[in-house]
Amino acid sequence: MATYKINVNNKQLTVDADADTPLLWVLRDHLNLVGTKFGCGIAQCGACTVHINGTATRSCQFPIAAVGNYKVTTIEGLSPTGTHPLQLAWEEVDVPQCGYCQAGQIMAAAALLKKIPNPTDADIDANMNNICRCGTHVRIRKAIHLAAANGGANVK
Ligand code: FES
Ligand code: FES
Repeated sequence: MATYKINVNNKQLTVDADADTPLLWVLRDHLNLVGTKFGCGIAQCGACTVHINGTATRSCQFPIAAVGNYKVTTIEGLSPTGTHPLQLAWEEVDVPQCGYCQAGQIMAAAALLKKIPNPTDADIDANMNNICRCGTHVRIRKAIHLAAANGGANVK
């Protein structure tokens, strides 16, 4: 067990954990940031996607000891008011079905818009490989286009 100082959603926090504890469990169990979900635990599904220095990262396979000075952003920190253009587009398009994968999908989409502000369908398909067992991918694509049109790449 060791003490780690990490920056999550622009707050400096201190956590006591084993070095190999996945960031996912630090977020959920130590910091009560439960928007980030556990799906597979083996970096395959994307339910646990957060940003590490703006890059979409699967937190189930990212140990706390590797966080260092990186800035971690979770779905709770994407927009303090829940009004990121992606979140508004998700509502307008009514993307979720069960909802379980959706925080990870939105975080992956936010990283995509930073990289490609107006992605084509092919860009979206190439970059959005989070799994949705409810099959919402067509609505996800539509919502990403809507968020891109509403300045989704320009937030923060
Ligand atoms: S829980 Fe991390 S990728 Fe599935
Ligand atoms: S909305 Fe159910 S898994 Fe994606």
